[in-house]
Amino acid sequence: KKILFVASESVPFIKTGGLADVVGSLPKYFDKEEYDVRVMLPKYMCMKEEWKEKLTYKIHFYMDLNWREQYVGILELVHEGITFYFIDNEYYFNGFTPYGDTKWDIEKFAFFSKAALSALPLIDFRPDIIHCHDWQTGLVPVYLDNFRYGNEFFRGIKTVMTIHNLKFQGIWDTKTVKDITGLPAYYFAPDKLEAYKDANLLKGGIVYADKVTTVSNSYAEEIKQPFYGERLDGLMNARSNCLSGIVNGLDYNEWNPATDPMIEHHYDVTNFRKEKVKNKLALQEALGLNQDKKTMMIGIVSRLTDQKGFDLIAYVMDELCQDAVQIVALGTGEERYENMFRHFAWKYQGKVSANIYYSEPISHKIYASCDAFLMPSLFEPCGLSQLMSLRYGTVPIVRETGGLKDTVEPYNEFEKTGTGFSFANYNAHEMLATIRYAEKIYYDKRRDWNKIVEQGMKKDFSWKNSARQYEELYESL
Ligand code: ADP
Ligand code: GLC
Repeated sequence: KKILFVASESVPFIKTGGLADVVGSLPKYFDKEEYDVRVMLPKYMCMKEEWKEKLTYKIHFYMDLNWREQYVGILELVHEGITFYFIDNEYYFNGFTPYGDTKWDIEKFAFFSKAALSALPLIDFRPDIIHCHDWQTGLVPVYLDNFRYGNEFFRGIKTVMTIHNLKFQGIWDTKTVKDITGLPAYYFAPDKLEAYKDANLLKGGIVYADKVTTVSNSYAEEIKQPFYGERLDGLMNARSNCLSGIVNGLDYNEWNPATDPMIEHHYDVTNFRKEKVKNKLALQEALGLNQDKKTMMIGIVSRLTDQKGFDLIAYVMDELCQDAVQIVALGTGEERYENMFRHFAWKYQGKVSANIYYSEPISHKIYASCDAFLMPSLFEPCGLSQLMSLRYGTVPIVRETGGLKDTVEPYNEFEKTGTGFSFANYNAHEMLATIRYAEKIYYDKRRDWNKIVEQGMKKDFSWKNSARQYEELYESL
């Protein structure tokens, strides 16, 4: 079977969050005998030069969008056995970041979605299934429906829509979206693209896809409720026959503490007790924290948004800093959270480290160095950071929601089972109590703590299982 992933980001080319990790790693883990999986991405100007240089020109053509004729170039690169296609158009993909202004993003990704389909007859790849990811590709199943009428080539192609985050839907007023996309008025009805009087690109994708998935079982259930449903819970219920959750995996070759070139001291489940702490000392030195191998170090690597529970952290940070802990944060996002961490780093020098930037190497060092990892998300479709933490023997402290609930097993003090610590309610003091409980185990029951670390490291969150589930899904189409 031929499968085409269409997405707005993918490692190693361009990444703003977990979507890129998934799109860049999952295709490698399908059965190569059965599946030819390729990936289609935008060629962003902000992509690293080293990658842009490697792309080879394939073809180009012109396509109508928003009353203009637009250039569509197709470039190609085979990376680690996977063929990646890049859609080139300097008018649309010239930003310093992949996303920006909503209206412009809608036009940009309408262009991308239409161009991705239009390119297929010309690049000699007719997928059996197109696998779309998030709102940026929501128009792919819609355009496909539209293209089918006039063109034999597109008949019979099936689609899967994976929701990585229901919060982002690509919403703009109907008239503008009609103009931009050039789609017939027929599509702008409440049972199709329209939601609450506006055009909604993700909704279009969900309505027209043959199957809809999310990135964990719990999230697939949660989004049928108003609290998590982002005003589409009705639609999620209506489509519940076609909706399933498949939990994300990690690229276990990239994320491996025994071989990771970005960390200083390598270790695995047999020797982490001695070796892991060397990374902690190195990071403390690098970031100007007090060097002390005994202090419990808590890591945070995240987009700094409401989704990730930073208002809880802000609320009890002063209290938490009275404890014998160090906190290392890495992230960018909303200014108030960036400043919150800067403030506490200034107030608690040697104890709190605020790294307000994006850095792949520092993220690896944090996963490898910390004792615990804090992720108290308000909602979390899957979450990859906690999987990275587990893999690196860093004990996750999470709120029981979405993928966090499905992947972190809470420590049971009596049976000595579990891989992390968790709390249920979105409440700052419930979080603080959970962190303090973890501190207690860390300081007073080190043997039990090490058992938690070991149990986490032994869990298998590679793509092995989840890729099989996607294969089954493809077969069901
Ligand atoms: P989300 O996709 O919602 O941001 P995930 O947990 O699925 O959350 O994935 C986040 C990914 O982005 C992880 O790979 C994490 O390490 C990475 N990440 C987030 N912020 C940064 C940062 N400032 N520097 C480096 N990596 C980051
Ligand atoms: C989204 C979600 C995150 C998930 C990632 C990859 O960004 O917020 O929970 O892990 O997509 O699926």
